[in-house]
Amino acid sequence: MGEILQQNEDFKVEMVDWQGRPAVRKSVQPTISPGRAERLQNEAYGMGFLKDLAKKHPKVNLFVPELYEIAPDYLIHEYVEAEPISAPGIPSEKIKKRLDLLAQQLADIDRIEPYGKTKFVGNFDYRDIRKGFVKWIAPPLEGGQITQRQVDAVNQIIEPLLPYLGPRISHGDLSPHRHTLLMDDGRICWLDLENFTPSGSRYYDVARAYVRLFSFENDIAIAKHFLKSFLNKAEGVEYQREQLMAIIVQRTLGMQFDAWYDDRHGTDYRVRAKQLLELVLQNKLELLYG
Ligand SMILES: Nc1ncnc2c1ncn2[C@@H]1O[C@H](COP(=O)(O)OP(=O)(O)OP(=O)(O)O)[C@@H](O)[C@H]1O
Ligand SMILES: [Mg+2]
Repeated sequence: MGEILQQNEDFKVEMVDWQGRPAVRKSVQPTISPGRAERLQNEAYGMGFLKDLAKKHPKVNLFVPELYEIAPDYLIHEYVEAEPISAPGIPSEKIKKRLDLLAQQLADIDRIEPYGKTKFVGNFDYRDIRKGFVKWIAPPLEGGQITQRQVDAVNQIIEPLLPYLGPRISHGDLSPHRHTLLMDDGRICWLDLENFTPSGSRYYDVARAYVRLFSFENDIAIAKHFLKSFLNKAEGVEYQREQLMAIIVQRTLGMQFDAWYDDRHGTDYRVRAKQLLELVLQNKLELLYG
């Protein structure tokens, strides 16, 4: 007990004992960035929302930890003992099978019409997916990771696709490495619901997970497998490819900022970020999964 699971300038996440049960306490650090602490309340909201969704729709195979306590500067929830969908050392074939389960879960959630109150919309507000662009572009442009020509090309791809974007219930920060645990009963547990919204841009979670797989897996075939798997399972709605393309391009631009930021904190995937940007700028969805 007392083991620190994660700690940065925003939050401390640690194991605690809560009334005799193993639990996790996520608390605000004194150095937290402005506006971030409020997202803890959104996390509590997301946990309640998705617990209810999981009960109403057992087919989505979703598990959400029990919320034990919520205060302005911390929350305590049930500890879940399970492996992430992907982690170093897990063989590729096993990761692919697990990603098929995640793809199925996201395809099933995608079939649910959005409902409920929106309390937080980050940069995946389906009405304005370019909200974060000013912030995301500056450092990578200055550092030479991206060029103005590429930024213009991103805008040229996204602009005509904007009318097709629609809302969907979204985790908002989905990471196959950090925020999805595969449980023994086959359900997938979602962690870190700070960015949860019932009205994120459709396919945002798919794009978020895809870009992270492209960033962190040894072989980019893993990311491609995931996207292909999702396309095989998802409902074939009108303008699906347009919506997917728009949000993957948006996330790939966000990835340029993340790669710059993470490099300064000791994790370097800038080469992968460049590689994916070149790929998406060809504006052919099939290149992203084939
Ligand atoms: N209920 C839980 N059961 C098991 N492990 C947990 C639980 N909650 C959090 N963790 C572990 O702690 C890590 C950090 O938690 P969380 O993602 O909520 O914090 P964060 O500061 O928002 O992190 P991030 O940088 O990923 O946004 C998770 O990636 C997971 O490994
Ligand atoms: Mg987080």
